[in-house]
Amino acid sequence: MTVTIVGSQLGDEGKGALVDRWGGDADVVVRYQGGDNAGHTVVEGGEEYKLSLVPSGAVRDKVGILGNGCVVNPRTLFSEIDDLRDRGLEPDVRIARRAHVILPYHRVLDGIEEEVKADDESGVEVGTTGRGIGPTYEDKAGRRGVRIGDLLDPEVLRERLAYAVPQKRAVVEDIYGLDIEGTDREDAFDVDALHEEFVEIGERLADEGMTVNCSDYLYRRHEAGDRILFEGAQGTSIDIDHGNYPFVTSSNPTAGGAAVGSGVGVTTVGDGEVVGIVKAYLSRVGSGPLPTELDGDEREEALADEIREKGGEFGTVTGRPRRIGWLDLPMLRHAARVSGFTGLAVNHVDVLAGLEELQVCTGYELDGEEIDTVPTTTERWARCDPVYREFDTWEEVDWTAVAADGYDALPEATREYLEFLAAEVDADVYAVGVGPDREETIELVNPFESSASE
Ligand code: IMP
Repeated sequence: MTVTIVGSQLGDEGKGALVDRWGGDADVVVRYQGGDNAGHTVVEGGEEYKLSLVPSGAVRDKVGILGNGCVVNPRTLFSEIDDLRDRGLEPDVRIARRAHVILPYHRVLDGIEEEVKADDESGVEVGTTGRGIGPTYEDKAGRRGVRIGDLLDPEVLRERLAYAVPQKRAVVEDIYGLDIEGTDREDAFDVDALHEEFVEIGERLADEGMTVNCSDYLYRRHEAGDRILFEGAQGTSIDIDHGNYPFVTSSNPTAGGAAVGSGVGVTTVGDGEVVGIVKAYLSRVGSGPLPTELDGDEREEALADEIREKGGEFGTVTGRPRRIGWLDLPMLRHAARVSGFTGLAVNHVDVLAGLEELQVCTGYELDGEEIDTVPTTTERWARCDPVYREFDTWEEVDWTAVAADGYDALPEATREYLEFLAAEVDADVYAVGVGPDREETIELVNPFESSASE
């Protein structure tokens, strides 16, 4: 059986806490897209582990897989694995041989393109994490990428690099007009230097038996009755297809990505549970519209500051302060439809406690019409005026005690809020996050135990 965890909004919905919780009931935890642009924190035995690539299950003696839909920076991977080993863990991480490799030039290109976009009057800067994600997926689609399997064969690797690297160098020098000779960027475009480093990486991957035929491996595990948890990174509104293009990441965080990005059939993924992770308000790191953003006047900014500070809304990977907005139901409806949510987990409800006011956007007004889902173009989305419904606020309570006592111990106004949004997207609330610690999640349904996944 499978459980797929999907970010319903713009990433940073607190997926880690649920992956962590339900990963404990899984045998294999699989990431199916993205790379080291995703930051998650796992707390185990009082120790905090900050990871960006290693699937969090690997901290808990589960097999962690990076599926073929991922883009893998081996430097990050080994540094995270070595760090975990130094701290006494023995993470079991396997990587799909069909996954693509982030090479040093991809990171350089990510940085250059963002700089160029920042200077462009059209305001197309994405605010990427600078990890080379976009350029690597670009090469994948352009059929000039390097895959993990290529690192295992020095001859093939040389051929791939000999073809791609001069093109990349030409882009930097001839299109962007930058001179990289003699700079610290030069090694990233040197076939011999890259070949030497990445052959060594391939040797380590082979020595440690870390590469797999992902589809075949997961098929066998599933056939043997093992439980598979798909760990989506980022969120629906930054999905390359379903998000607000071009302010998106370059992969598919939505549930369909779990099948494509791992080689497990859609019927298998669809037979299981798909849980949308929702933050009780919105946050956004990077550019792009945010109709419910709290930035209109001083009062709104003060509310945003309060939420940002209380919720620790600063990027895990970049440290950037996140933009803050009210919960947006059109976004949530879109997410529920695209991924087919069977359940919801709503996080950070404690952060909203004690606020002066609480609003939820129930629809938009656009050109005199009321609409209930996200327009397909970002320009139209940016012109949407939110229609709000005001909710009763709730007071600060002892959230640890509430978590221990369960759902009925939540303040009445909190329950009303949760029940309203569950009804709006036609999915039950499976869990409610009332604090950052492991014990501060109230579980109503464990998707591995629910009837849909049996
Ligand atoms: P990229 O994935 O680094 O190419 O960045 C593209 C966009 O996705 C930017 O707006 C990033 O801020 C955003 N993004 C990427 N990864 C995450 C994440 O894990 N959480 C939230 N936003 C992300």
